[in-house]
Amino acid sequence: CLWVRNLRLKRRLPGPFAWPVVGNAMQLGQMPHITFARLAKKYGDVYQIRLGCSDIVVLNGDKAIRQALIQHSTEFAGRPNFVSFQMISGGRSLTFTNYSKQWKVHRKIAHSSLRAFSSANSQTKKAFEQHITAEAMELVHAFLQQSEDGQYFDPAHEFTVAAANVMCALCFGRRYGHDDLEFRTLLKRLDKFGETIGAGSLVDVMPWLQSFPNPVRSIYENFKSLNDEFFTYVRDKVWQHRETFDPDVTRDMTDAIINVIEYGKDSGLSKEFSEATMTDLIGAGQDTVSTAMQWIILLLVKHPDIQAKLQTAIDKAVGPDRLPTMEDRHNMPLLDAFIYEMMRFTSFVPVTIPHSTTADVTIEGLHIPKDTVVFVNQWSVNHDPLKWKDPHMFDPTRFLDENGALDRDLTSSVLIFSTGKRRCIGDHIAKAEVFLFTAILLHQCCFESDSAVVSLDCSYGLTLKPLHSSLRAKLRGSCWA
Ligand code: HEM
Repeated sequence: CLWVRNLRLKRRLPGPFAWPVVGNAMQLGQMPHITFARLAKKYGDVYQIRLGCSDIVVLNGDKAIRQALIQHSTEFAGRPNFVSFQMISGGRSLTFTNYSKQWKVHRKIAHSSLRAFSSANSQTKKAFEQHITAEAMELVHAFLQQSEDGQYFDPAHEFTVAAANVMCALCFGRRYGHDDLEFRTLLKRLDKFGETIGAGSLVDVMPWLQSFPNPVRSIYENFKSLNDEFFTYVRDKVWQHRETFDPDVTRDMTDAIINVIEYGKDSGLSKEFSEATMTDLIGAGQDTVSTAMQWIILLLVKHPDIQAKLQTAIDKAVGPDRLPTMEDRHNMPLLDAFIYEMMRFTSFVPVTIPHSTTADVTIEGLHIPKDTVVFVNQWSVNHDPLKWKDPHMFDPTRFLDENGALDRDLTSSVLIFSTGKRRCIGDHIAKAEVFLFTAILLHQCCFESDSAVVSLDCSYGLTLKPLHSSLRAKLRGSCWA
């Protein structure tokens, strides 16, 4: 009887037929997260695919994902030992290394430093908010300048610079202008980062593709050189901090990290982890937040009625004589609802960074062996028709109750920062940035697209990025009728 039970528990995972050599690589299509959700309808929420030489388990839907990442948090807390992951942050990345005692210490140090510099007390909160406000105002000026004479522009790059600048202000105590060519060029190159490490990227699962000249090989080479370049840039800044370090004066987050890692009691991490931590934090905080802002602005021009309602709500809460602040947040539930709906609807981090199992584990009666690569399909949670009415409709009011207040139960059902042991450690920072950027941009400007039909087409990677974004800005008061 026990034998039969064990056999049933260890049932082979369901999944589509995998072709020799390539497995299911050719079936992923342009939008793998949508393919994954479609396959879940046929094979269930937990199934297996094969990509090149790797068996991969795909998790879909709220129940299976939370069961895996929360109930079996340690077993699902690993990262695969992909070659590309070792090219990041000098090989000492906190984000891309496997579960271990050392990783736990590293994550704890990074997490508490982020908290210390963004939300630990009213002084740090205020200083952090001032950095965001300054960047938002830079954006307003840049957008108005680029809209001069009725011109249209793509805001993607300005958002990248703004998000990176907020992180640089925290990490290095200084920002870099929108005109700083070295900084802009570096960030432009990083734009391609997510294509290589997004779930479904083939470079790591078909290593044999590197052995002859082809586009995959050049993706790998580019990926290595862009990571080396970014790491060197950040490392130089950390070195400068180390040379002038005074344990009695903490100038910024780099000093705080050096203090804990290099002067702390038994951090167990070598000093090279200081530069890796800063590289990880600046990298993680830049692409994600700027992508969120690209979607926000696109949805605002696609839905001018919502744009107008948000402006009315902001005007009512703030008035014309000052800028919005974080304290206004509780008086603007519609803006929060709009941001949550943007995150749900676009699911712009559709699949988390690949996980791997740290031990044999059974979920939904299916056995998954240790060291299996796992894809977590966040999009499937945010588009589950059992959870969301008309999931393919963009409707911020779904997050408001009958009194117009934010429905906290529903907002916590949106999955974009992942959950469990690998959950994003920058969620508070990201939410503050997205809220203030949006509030200030809408308080100051109105935005209009160059075409009547605004396309939401996007490219796939770790983040989904809009393909067509062309808009112009006008100062409030002189807006289009
Ligand atoms: C990891 C989302 C902003 C730092 C992640 C993961 C997701 C995510 C999905 C992977 C979780 C997993 O693999 O299960 C986002 C989104 C953001 C954002 C949607 C913006 C809207 C930030 C910011 C920072 C940050 C601003 C830092 C300042 C990190 C780090 C990790 C991470 C360090 C790695 C955690 C680990 O592997 O233990 N984020 N993130 N993120 N995020 Fe974020």
